[in-house]
Amino acid sequence: MSQIPVAKPVLDEQEVEAVRRVILSGWVTQGPEVAAFEEEFADFVGAQHACAVSNCTTALHLALRAVGVHSGDEVITVSHTFIATANAIRYCGAVPVFVDIEEDGFNIDPELIEAAITPRTKAIICVHQLGMPCDLHRVVSIAARHSIPVIEDAACATGSEILWKGRWEKIGKPHGDIACFSFHPRKVVTTGDGGMLTTANPEYDRKFRLWRQHGMSVTDAVRHGSRQVIFESYPEVGYNYRMTDMQAAVGREQIKRLPGIIRSRRELASLYFDQLASTTGVTLPFEPAWARSNWQSFCLRLPEYLDQRQIMQELLDRGISTRRGIMNIHLEHAYSEVGSHRAATGLGRSVSAQQQSIILPLFAQMSEDDLTSVADAVRASVFRPQMMIEKAG
Ligand SMILES: Cc1ncc(COP(=O)(O)O)c(C=O)c1O
Repeated sequence: MSQIPVAKPVLDEQEVEAVRRVILSGWVTQGPEVAAFEEEFADFVGAQHACAVSNCTTALHLALRAVGVHSGDEVITVSHTFIATANAIRYCGAVPVFVDIEEDGFNIDPELIEAAITPRTKAIICVHQLGMPCDLHRVVSIAARHSIPVIEDAACATGSEILWKGRWEKIGKPHGDIACFSFHPRKVVTTGDGGMLTTANPEYDRKFRLWRQHGMSVTDAVRHGSRQVIFESYPEVGYNYRMTDMQAAVGREQIKRLPGIIRSRRELASLYFDQLASTTGVTLPFEPAWARSNWQSFCLRLPEYLDQRQIMQELLDRGISTRRGIMNIHLEHAYSEVGSHRAATGLGRSVSAQQQSIILPLFAQMSEDDLTSVADAVRASVFRPQMMIEKAG
């Protein structure tokens, strides 16, 4: 039986040729391809500065350090996100402060932010979960009232858009202070692993460039191209968070494909909406009028009486891969110790979102026939009595 995967990167001969070109050039780590990728990515999202790094987790770490998050500080974010969001906060020795998500989506509930702010709050990380923009208007205005920087975890949101002052703008301009992107293969474009930081602040950008390369005062490219002997220095402790030129060359090909990839994903999402609209009990994702998702994932919610695992198994038995909804960090062992985080609100919506949501297959090359098979299988399985949760007693 053929299997419908939950995701599939769009990689082809162009990417192979790009890597070949770089390998044969003899310059394989951070160099001219990384610089070109940064420029093209900045153009795509409309950012003044874009700095490539090894992945989005390292991007988040540099962003937090740039805005001045230190040991003992607090950073407000959601528990309902991939663990990397909070791990980056802990790399700084700071404490993630979790607030719950909105009722009708998977993003931070801006209503809950203000009460979570304390004198120790040094940043807010809002996540554009599954590619759906969070309510940046409200997050940014609350943060501005308290002079707290906003870091956008845009890992999933390359190509997503937000209506900002009457114009559609790409996530990553950025609308907060810094945005961090991921190019993991589960995202809409990939470099294998990879990340990008965008900002309008040249000082932040300077720091990212320094820290991603061991805190070294000159880059390899500058030293290599110089006709004078240059001795580098190390004014600050940095990291090796570089992207390679081979990854960047793949990224440049992916950026060319991006408008087409997003067009396909939006068409497929709209087909899911058509085909699943009247499925009793199932709640389809909510896209606010001011947001355009890149549909990195299409995540539906089941009613409480249906058993998520059974439905996923039934779909898998029919050759359809799914994933359960996003994790909750506060429930993981790594966050069980006192002091590892603080819950500033109840996290009930986050918990039920994880227990009741299922991510359906969606990838740019997916055929309409495959999508129809998935929708048919979802409709069939949610009506089967065996899928109901057995009530005790
Ligand atoms: C919301 C979110 N933040 C951060 C990350 C980490 O990205 P990376 O794997 O590029 O480090 C991910 C990756 O899945 C993510 O989904």
